[in-house]
Amino acid sequence: MDRFTPTWANAWATELSQDTEWAASSTNWKWSVLVKVNDHSSWLLDLYKGECRSITQDSGNGSADFVLAAGVDVWSRILDGDQSPMVAIMQGAVRLEKGSILTLGRFSKSATLMLEAAIRAEGGTVESAPPSVSAGGDGAVASDHHVSFRTTSGSGLNHDSLPMQLYHKAKRLGIWDPRDLDMSSDRGHWVALASEERDVLTRLLAMFQAGEEAVTLDLLPLMRALALDGRLEEEIYLTTFLFEEAKHVEFFQRIFSEVVQVDEDLSHYHTASYKELFYEKLPEALNRLDTDASPEALIAASVTYNMVVEGTLAETGYQAFYTVLEERSIMPGVTEGIRLLQRDESRHIAFGVHLIRRLIEENPPLMGVFQSRMAELMPLAMASITELFACYDPMPFGLKEEDFVQFAMDQFGKRMRRIEQGMGVS
Ligand SMILES: [Fe+2]
Ligand SMILES: [Fe+2]
Repeated sequence: MDRFTPTWANAWATELSQDTEWAASSTNWKWSVLVKVNDHSSWLLDLYKGECRSITQDSGNGSADFVLAAGVDVWSRILDGDQSPMVAIMQGAVRLEKGSILTLGRFSKSATLMLEAAIRAEGGTVESAPPSVSAGGDGAVASDHHVSFRTTSGSGLNHDSLPMQLYHKAKRLGIWDPRDLDMSSDRGHWVALASEERDVLTRLLAMFQAGEEAVTLDLLPLMRALALDGRLEEEIYLTTFLFEEAKHVEFFQRIFSEVVQVDEDLSHYHTASYKELFYEKLPEALNRLDTDASPEALIAASVTYNMVVEGTLAETGYQAFYTVLEERSIMPGVTEGIRLLQRDESRHIAFGVHLIRRLIEENPPLMGVFQSRMAELMPLAMASITELFACYDPMPFGLKEEDFVQFAMDQFGKRMRRIEQGMGVS
């Protein structure tokens, strides 16, 4: 079937009208969307509360609520299932000419399902993951014996490698003690806050606390997989990484016991998407490495851990802390700790970028694994933020949802570009 023809549009509309999963993800969507295929045609999608009323050719000058424009090559990649529409928007490959990025971010799952319906309408099948690529590296199989040792074989450690540079940095910058932070005035500032203000900060802290515990518990399979692969420098760096995550757990515990002063169950602060990410996706991706240390599995783990949890969500969380605490000059002990913690985390993210780039350089088709895992987790990351905001009306401290969704999307886009730079991705 030829794309961008009335027959194609009708088939897509029919497929959508039978898609109950898409309908369920779109019950609050009530805006028309114009898909502009530059220099070709424009298509008006009349979508309303889980119903696709029609998809028709349009002059392109109408009054659609959302206008998305891209060349035929970009739309083809999206319709081939090779590119996530949300990622394409963040990369600037698809231009959002009209409409709110915040709203789109909230409905990224709906957008993904919509494109999957288009692929089915064309008679294609939706792949849940890119085709498997054989393992690279120099020995991913565990051995019970060492044949030789790098440090006694004349080759020694590569101090110029990124992991060793991060390791040396971690020894200088990562040795800070949460117990040394002066939190003497933080409790006084805390009790002076309004109860809704304390509630939103408690929620943020409870998300960080569990997040730090999760990354501490879940890192070990990655260390072991790299150790079994003989990646000595990477393992040496990861010893500091795990120490730092443990220290972060301690830091938030200290805030809870001395500043917030609560010891009740805080898990009700974890929303559905947060839970899916931290209770399920993260441990699944990392623990998989115990039985499958293939490059694909390593990339999926590092994307989840370093790009999404650390590189997108945690970064957005620090921004929230700074916005609230620094602008009001309150809780200096907590603020100082967040700053030190963020510096640790910047090394963790740099390691993730190094690891993913190394794996893709060794095996270029793995770029598809990276991109599809990013696209898979992006809706969850965004939903974790929007669900937090949905708990408050009005939002304390005047925090604006669109600022944080935009910030998270910028972080996400930045991570994508850091991996794709110089790797032959247009
Ligand atoms: Fe951490
Ligand atoms: Fe970290």
